[in-house]
Amino acid sequence: MKKIVIGNWKMNPASVKEAEALLKNVAKNQKDYKNIDVVICVPNIYLSNLAKIKSKIILGAQDVFYEESGAYTGEVSAKMLTNFKVKYCIVGHSERRAMGETNETCNKKIIALLKVGITPILCVGEKTRDESHEYLNIVKKQIESCLVGINKNLLSKIIIAYEPVWAIGINATRAVETSECQEMMLYIKKIIANISNPKIAHSIRVIYGGSVNVQNSLDLITNGNTDGFLVGRDSLNAMKFTKIIQSGVK
Ligand code: 13P
Repeated sequence: MKKIVIGNWKMNPASVKEAEALLKNVAKNQKDYKNIDVVICVPNIYLSNLAKIKSKIILGAQDVFYEESGAYTGEVSAKMLTNFKVKYCIVGHSERRAMGETNETCNKKIIALLKVGITPILCVGEKTRDESHEYLNIVKKQIESCLVGINKNLLSKIIIAYEPVWAIGINATRAVETSECQEMMLYIKKIIANISNPKIAHSIRVIYGGSVNVQNSLDLITNGNTDGFLVGRDSLNAMKFTKIIQSGVK
């Protein structure tokens, strides 16, 4: 399956000028990005400017609201995102779940995105790892609840990003071990197979996110059974992000 590397800029950078420069710098080496999809999920307010830059990098958003229009102050609909060449959108990032996002709202957001042809990147992952393996049930419950009622044939259009909260950001304890990544990727495909069928499970992209960096990306993508990465901090550094992308190029 074609690999995918997705950057999540989160609430960065501070100016549109920096955002344009960062995107252009990542695009500089795009001739090397063969047989791989590269996506950057940017703050919505930069989309208009970034959509004007011609490159192979695909634009994504970091969140969406599930209603089509109306009195929802501050929200942005899926249809609005399509005005700016947005092809992907993160749903249920743990930083949004910490602000009140639920599996139920994730489900509505996924449905809204699929309706307009935007690929949802559904984030799942446990807060901590426990010895009795309760974290496996947490991930299973998140996936099943977020995908409830979605037509089986549309499931392969969704990306699942396994992002254990303990591995994310500056407070991360560590990144996932390659063997842990391998195990979780298989487990997630098995969950998908159970709610659909093995063929659909095989066609869905399951990726890893959490402290992905230049040091661990090659091993994770070669031996970790992952279809790609969701990268936070190191997507803000064009050189590092480029190297991570290159580790996924065959
Ligand atoms: P870091 O790569 O900074 O750990 O962030 C991961 C993440 O949250 C991507 O969505």
